[in-house]
Parts: sequence; C-alpha cells; structure tokens
Amino acid sequence: MTDFWKDNPRLGERLAKVAGIMDETIRTDGFPLADAVSVLIDSKGKMLRPAFLLIGSDFGQGPGSARAKKLVQERVLALAAAVELLHVSTLIHDDVIDDADLRRGKPTLHTLFGTKEAILAGDWLFSRCFTLAAESSDPQGARALSRVIAAICSAEIRQDLDKWSYSTSVRAYLHKIAGKTAALFTLSLQVGAQEAKAPAKQTEHLRRAGYDIGMAFQIIDDILDFESSLGVMRKPVGKDLAEGLCTLPLIYALKEDEVGMRRLIAAIRPDGAGIDQGAVAAVIERCMELGAIESAKKEALRFTDRARSEILRLPKGPSRDDLAWIAERLLNRDY
Ligand code: IPE
Ligand code: IPE
Ligand code: MG
Ligand code: MG
Ligand code: MG
Repeated sequence: MTDFWKDNPRLGERLAKVAGIMDETIRTDGFPLADAVSVLIDSKGKMLRPAFLLIGSDFGQGPGSARAKKLVQERVLALAAAVELLHVSTLIHDDVIDDADLRRGKPTLHTLFGTKEAILAGDWLFSRCFTLAAESSDPQGARALSRVIAAICSAEIRQDLDKWSYSTSVRAYLHKIAGKTAALFTLSLQVGAQEAKAPAKQTEHLRRAGYDIGMAFQIIDDILDFESSLGVMRKPVGKDLAEGLCTLPLIYALKEDEVGMRRLIAAIRPDGAGIDQGAVAAVIERCMELGAIESAKKEALRFTDRARSEILRLPKGPSRDDLAWIAERLLNRDY
C-alpha cells in the first residue's frame, strides 16, 4: 500500500481494507489481464478518492444500533474500493490517450500488451467498479458514478479537440479540469456523506470542498508536469507540452508574451511529427521567467482557500482535521 498515509494510521488502516476489497474484486472472474491490472493497483497510488469517501462518511455516523453502523461501514468501504477502481480504469485509458509509457513507476498496460488490450482492461475495470457499486450502494451512488464518467469523457474529448491550438482561456481550462478531475473528488466526498446519511448541509460543504480540492489538485498536477522529475512523479513529465496541451502555466505565459511564446511553442513539433525536447525545456523555462508557474500556483492556492472555508463550516473533530490536512498536503505536494 501507499505510504502517503503513514502519518495518519486512522485512515491508513481503513484504506488497507479498501485495498483488500479491490484485490478481491479483480480476482473473481478470471479476466486474462487481472494480474497485470493488479500490479498497477498495488503500485502505491495515493488512494485519495477512497480516502475522501471514507472521510465523507464520517460525518454521517449519528445515533443508531451497532449493527446498523457496521453495515454502513461495510458499504462505505466497498464504495471506496469502487471509486478507486474507477480512478485506476481512467488512468489506464488516460495513458493510452496521452501516450505515456510509465505509471506509478511501472510500464503502462498499453506498452506491455498493446492499446486494444489496455482499452479492454480499462473497460473491464469499469465493469468491476459498477458491480461493486451496485452491490453496495443506493441507486443514487451508482447514478452519481455514471454521471462522473460522462463528465470525464466529455472533458477528455474537449481537451483532445483543443490540442495544439493554444487559444484556451482560463475559463475553458477550468471547465476541463472540473470534468476530468474535480468531478470524482466531489463525488467521493458527497457519496460517502450520503451513504452514511450525513445532514444535507454538511454534505453540501463536503461536496464543495471536494470540488475545490480537486481543482487545486489538477492545477498542481499540471504545474508538476513542468517542474518535477520522472523519478519523483513515477510518471513522465514535460508530457503535457509534448502532447500539445495548453495547461494553466502556459495560458498565463501566453497572456504575458503571446508572440514570444508562440514562437517557442512552434519549435516543440517543428515538422508536425517528432518532439524537440530542447524546445519543451525552453517553453518551460520561459514560463518560469514570466512568472506563469507562480500565477498558476496562486490559482491552486485560491481553490485551496475556498476548500478551507467550506471545511471550517463542518463540525469540529478528527475527520474535519483530516480533510484540512489533506487539502494542505495536496497543495504542497511534490508528486
Ligand atoms: C492522477 O491522479 C491523475 C490526475 C487526476 C492528475 P493521482 O495523482 O491521484 O494518481 P495516483 O492514484 O496517486 O497514482
Ligand atoms: C488525468 O489528467 C485525468 C484523468 C481523468 C486520469 P493527466 O493526464 O494530467 O493525469 P496524469 O498526469 O497522466 O496522471
Ligand atoms: Mg496523463
Ligand atoms: Mg491526460
Ligand atoms: Mg498530468
């Protein structure tokens, strides 16, 4: 399991149970690539989305018999496993879309087995996710999951259609990351709260906090793609520029120096085919000089501040502290 939670055994122990359910779920139906998928699942992802679902559920543990509470806890653990399975399936497909050869420090499924197999393995994981969700959730949980998948697909298509155009506005960028990333963070906190019958007002604060943390999370991921290294991230870096994506640092840099940036960007793929890594490095360096990465960090901070104020409206206690602690850590993370 990931060591992301080593300072938080309260969550770490519950996440270990979630990992156990995931393992059981993918081992049941003899899928030919189950072992390969299992390697990816065991490769120390941060398990953020299940952690959020568990935290959301903590706000609903009011009065009730011990038996009823145990039942809720079991359902919540299974749902947490379902959201992580959904996340992993989107990672498998994302790596095909982004042509990435490494994920969680391991070769990606499509580089090992081919694109067709990776797509089918991702689809199969979707199906495992829904089986688990249908067995363990109210219909509203499964409905919410399908809505998120629709949001992710729409955002990924919008992103793909915008590739190599560099005319994306901040607004359009935020819209895309809301669909591809924040939607699942939002869902995790909300569904956890709903399954445990948290009061509506608290569920709403959790939902909003999930959205804001998710937005900050993807902005930081996009910044790390400029700033970090493969060794730290355990996935390729500089990849967004090489794929023709226009993420927040680049949008801000283009605002500062449109002509100069467009000249540098044109050198990334000079003949419309191969990528010039020197040109990628030059674009990143100029983004830094123009303060564009700092501006993107400020936007992530603004979303984290919004999350903080939602979190402060929740009842005091260890779960509220956990959520505030995670929001802070994700803002200042290096992977
Ligand atoms: C990666 O998510 C995909 C993005 C939304 C940026 P994570 O950074 O949560 O990936 P793992 O699960 O820890 O590998
Ligand atoms: C991921 O965005 C969005 C998903 C829905 C998986 P990225 O493409 O930036 O994620 P990484 O950087 O490959 O993890
Ligand atoms: Mg990617
Ligand atoms: Mg992607
Ligand atoms: Mg990324």
